[in-house]
Amino acid sequence: MKAKCIIEKDYSIGDVDPRLFGSFIEHLGRAVYTGIYEPGHPTADAQGFRRDVLDLVKQLQVELVRYPGGNFVSGYQWTDGIGPVDKRPKRLDLAWKSIETNEIGIDEFVDWCRLAGTKVMAAVNLGTGTPAEAANLVEYCNHPGGTAWSDWRRQNGHAEPHGIKLWCLGNEMDGPWQICHLSAEDYGKKALEAAKMMRWVDPGIELVACGSSNSSMPTFPEWDRIVLEYLYEQVDYISLHNYYGRSDVETLGDFLASFHDMDQFIRTVAATADYVKAKKRSHKRLFLSFDEWNVWADRFATYETWDFAKPRLEQIYNLQDALVFGGLLCTLLNNVDRVKIACLAQLVNAIAPLLTEPGGGVIKQAIFYPFQQVSALGRGVVLRPLISSPRYESVYGDVPVLQLSAVYREEEEEVAVFVLNCAQEEAVELSLDFRSFTVVNPLEHMVLTGPDLKAVNSFAEPHKVVPRPLTLPQGDNRLMTVELPSLSWNVLRFKTKK
Ligand code: AHR
Repeated sequence: MKAKCIIEKDYSIGDVDPRLFGSFIEHLGRAVYTGIYEPGHPTADAQGFRRDVLDLVKQLQVELVRYPGGNFVSGYQWTDGIGPVDKRPKRLDLAWKSIETNEIGIDEFVDWCRLAGTKVMAAVNLGTGTPAEAANLVEYCNHPGGTAWSDWRRQNGHAEPHGIKLWCLGNEMDGPWQICHLSAEDYGKKALEAAKMMRWVDPGIELVACGSSNSSMPTFPEWDRIVLEYLYEQVDYISLHNYYGRSDVETLGDFLASFHDMDQFIRTVAATADYVKAKKRSHKRLFLSFDEWNVWADRFATYETWDFAKPRLEQIYNLQDALVFGGLLCTLLNNVDRVKIACLAQLVNAIAPLLTEPGGGVIKQAIFYPFQQVSALGRGVVLRPLISSPRYESVYGDVPVLQLSAVYREEEEEVAVFVLNCAQEEAVELSLDFRSFTVVNPLEHMVLTGPDLKAVNSFAEPHKVVPRPLTLPQGDNRLMTVELPSLSWNVLRFKTKK
C-alpha cells in the first residue's frame, strides 16, 4: 500500500498551545491516595508525595492538571480540604461511592503541582455548590491577603497566592449521573452568576463552561448552544469530554477510526460556538477545552461498598489502545486553531498512563509513550499535511488509513511527523515531500507495534509495549520514503533547514 504526504512549512494550522498537554487528577479510587500521595511509601517526601510518581509525571511534561474532579467535584466542599489535616472531616463521596478523608486539598495539590513542574486547572462545584462558594475559593486561592478567605490561606502556610488562572465552571452538568444535574437553562443561569462573582474577585482568571459530556448525549449539541447563549461573553472556552472504548464499536477498524469521531465532535462544537457568536453579533472567538479525553473500555462499573483508596477505573492499556490513543493525539494537534487546552483523563491509576502499587512500584502503561513523545516533540507549529492515503469504511464513515500530524519546531530546526497506520494486513510505504525546506535529514523513526495487539505492560513485564527504533527513512534530501508497519504508531524526526 502506498501513500503520499506533502509537508509545506508555510501551510500552518496554528501554534500548539502548551496546555494541549494537560492532564487530570480526580479524588477517585487511587488517583490521589496511593497514587500521587502515600505517606510511608519508601519514596515519599516529607509531605507524603511519591517521588517515583513525580519523576514519571515530569517525563510526560504535563502543562496543567485539572483538579479535583470530575464527577467528584459536584459534591465536594472545598473547605473540608484546608487547615489542620487531623481536623478535616471524613465524608461520603457520592460520585464514586468512596470515603473521602480530605487529607489532600487545594493547598497540598498546589504544592504537588509545583513539585511536578505543572499548573492547576481548578474546577468549582456547581452541583451542590453555590456561586458564592466558588467565588470564595477563588478568593482563598488568588487574593493576596487582608480578607478572611485569603488570610485563611496565609494561616494555612501559603503566604503567596496560588495564582490559579484557569477555572472550570462545574463538571458534566448535562449528565443525569452528575450530583445535582441541571438542565441547560438552569446550568446557564447558575454558571453565569458564578462566572460573574469569580471574575469580580479576580479579573485575571480564565473560565471554561461545561459543554456536553460526550457526543452521544441526547442533548448534544443543543446543550452547548443553550449554555453558550447564556455564557458566551463571560467564558473563554467551552469544554468537550469524550472517551473511546473498544467495546463501543464492533471492529478493530472502527476502534482505530476514533480519531475521526473526535475530529467531528470538535468541528461540531466549534460550529455551535460560531453559531452563537453570529447570533450575538459578537466579535469574540470562543476556544475549546477538550478537558477529558482518553481511551476507556469499561465506563459503567458500579461499586457495592464504601471504600477508601480502593481501585476504581484501573484500566490496563494494551497496544491496541495505545494506537488509538496516538490517533487521538493527532486529531488534537490538527485542531490547534480551535483546541487550546486538552486534558488526558487521567494521570495516575484511574484510566491513566501511570499505575502504582501501594507500597510498591510504578509502571508506564502503553499509552504513556505516545503522550510522552508528542508532548516532547509536538510543541511548535502544526503544519497542514496534504495527504493522499488509501481509505477504508468505518462506523464513522470513510476514513484515511493514515492519521498524520506534522509539527515544525523552527528554533530546533526539526519537523516531527506522527502517524497512526490503521492498515491491518500490510505495511504502508509513505512518501514524504518536504519541498519547501532546503535541507532535510532523517534523525529517528520510533515505532509502537507488535504481533500481539493485546500486549500490556505489567509489574512483572513493564517493558512489553515500548517504542522501538526502525531504520531511518530513505531518500534524496527533501523526498523521503518510509515504511510504516501495519497497525503501528510512528514518530519520525527530521532535521531541517528553511
Ligand atoms: O474521568 C472519569 C470521569 O469521567 C469523570 O469524573 C467524569 O467527569 C467523566 O464522566
